[in-house]
Amino acid sequence: MVTAFAIANPGLEELVEDEVRSLWPACEAKTERGGVTFQVQLGDLQVRLADLRIATRVLIRVAEFTAKDFPKLHKRTLALAWSQWLASDADIKVKAASQASRLKIKKRIEDVVSEAITEARGPRPRAAASRLAQIYVRVDQDRVMISADACGELMHKRGDREDVGRAPLRETWAAAVVQRLRGLLSRTANSEWVWIEPMAGTAVFAREWRADRPTRDWALGQVIRVSSKAEGETASLQAPRSHAQIRSWCFADSNPARRKALSAWLAGESSFSIADSQQELAASLMAAIGSPEASRDEHRVVVVNPPWGVRLQSPDAVNTRARQVAFLEGLEQSFRPAVVAVIFPRTREGLAGAPAGWRELKPLQFKVGGLPVVARFFEVKARLPR
Ligand SMILES: C[S@@+](CC[C@H](N)C(=O)[O-])C[C@H]1O[C@@H](n2cnc3c(N)ncnc32)[C@H](O)[C@@H]1O
Repeated sequence: MVTAFAIANPGLEELVEDEVRSLWPACEAKTERGGVTFQVQLGDLQVRLADLRIATRVLIRVAEFTAKDFPKLHKRTLALAWSQWLASDADIKVKAASQASRLKIKKRIEDVVSEAITEARGPRPRAAASRLAQIYVRVDQDRVMISADACGELMHKRGDREDVGRAPLRETWAAAVVQRLRGLLSRTANSEWVWIEPMAGTAVFAREWRADRPTRDWALGQVIRVSSKAEGETASLQAPRSHAQIRSWCFADSNPARRKALSAWLAGESSFSIADSQQELAASLMAAIGSPEASRDEHRVVVVNPPWGVRLQSPDAVNTRARQVAFLEGLEQSFRPAVVAVIFPRTREGLAGAPAGWRELKPLQFKVGGLPVVARFFEVKARLPR
């Protein structure tokens, strides 16, 4: 059993805790500042690590001790069983952070820990192409915490999205929005939904909903050794996380390269459409169902991340309250949704009012590249499946 720490984006800690509990039901998870601490078998962590979608990184605690000077830091680090933690062909990179402690100079902490680990491992054959294990050292009020990174690259890199554009919404944030949506949609048990992304881009939300397993590499099992066997059954790995099913996928994007990438990604789906603009998508949906009244039988979930217009000026930018009000009205007119998730930049004027009949649920607040944004969720009672 090890102690692991799943790092969360500020504002997403509780959702990460839900995620950890659902993947490792037996673990004792506890939300702390910046993430979630949990106890898990290394083998079980390895088996399900790729299914963790909201956390940004997972660290494994190697040791915790008090050190007020560098000789003590060296001695305690040297005494740890590094050869059991690290693969013999792994090189190491140490990253330190320190606050309110006598050991202050980050570079010096990194050098001392790095030297002690190298000494502890003893002479190693020089590998042709060595891989990197990242070791994190945090010193807080003279308590030193040494951790090994289980991930390698950050978790939002799923390995399946190439064209991310200039201001991509990270997969980990999109996964948080999707987790909230799953909760909303499952409240309406076993219903089938039409998924609408009118400004799909790389379809980050749809990808997170479908949750294809990332095929990328992980540090755990490669540079960090796993000796304990997984206890859980791998057969249950793909268990659905909600009852809600997507019956058809409807996307629009004005960028031809993105439409092309989308159609490749959707190739295996039985029902999907990709339009050149949100206006065209709205028109085709209206035509398909005949009259707006008929849409009552079709349960639509609209997920949209419109151009925010903070850095990229665009005529569609939603950077003022008035534009956000108009944008929500546009979604109501065009798509007659039952559930909506929309990401807006926060404005000084506060949250935009919603169209008549829309009921707002708890929003998610977070920052994207330092910019405060809000993911807002609405349901339209009259159109929800009964
Ligand atoms: C902020 S990005 C959305 C990013 C998206 N969530 C993703 O996963 O990449 C906005 C997207 O809207 C598209 N877009 C802008 N105006 C549009 C319009 N009128 N109709 C359809 N797509 C539009 C852009 O091409 C861009 O891909």
